[in-house]
Amino acid sequence: ATEQTLSIIKPDAVGKNVIGEILSRFESNGLRVKAMKMVRLTTEQAKAFYAVHADKPFYNDLVEFMISGPVVVSVLEGDNAIAKNRELMGATNPKEADAGTIRADYATSIDANAVHGSDSPETAAEEVAFFFNHLEVFDRDA
Ligand code: CMP
Repeated sequence: ATEQTLSIIKPDAVGKNVIGEILSRFESNGLRVKAMKMVRLTTEQAKAFYAVHADKPFYNDLVEFMISGPVVVSVLEGDNAIAKNRELMGATNPKEADAGTIRADYATSIDANAVHGSDSPETAAEEVAFFFNHLEVFDRDA
């Protein structure tokens, strides 16, 4: 089924100047950009976005990392987009990511892991709505 998922190109990947390389992987694998912006998150925004991890030991480091520089947020659409994006990203920990995945190629650590992608249809809907209103998500291609 056609799905939408939220993608974040994290500060480490923006810093490495590989925004285009990463977007190109999405596009060449059947995902289409339906909304996009570059933003620098505030502490409050990063905390709210990752609220589900508030109890985890890595939460503070994650929030600090996510506000360390600008990020590129996009809505990707395509057949099976949530799983497809996760497949292209590779495992959360780049040490465990399959060769040829975005994290294997561009991530440096489990925190500085280059990209985020929604993990289910429910979180995708929440995460898209966190960053974009309905006028910012385009429902046609031209
Ligand atoms: P992301 O997909 O953005 O979702 C939460 C992030 O927390 C994750 O990618 C990692 O960058 C970061 N993180 C740090 N430590 C861990 C951990 N032990 N398990 C899962 N995620 C972690």
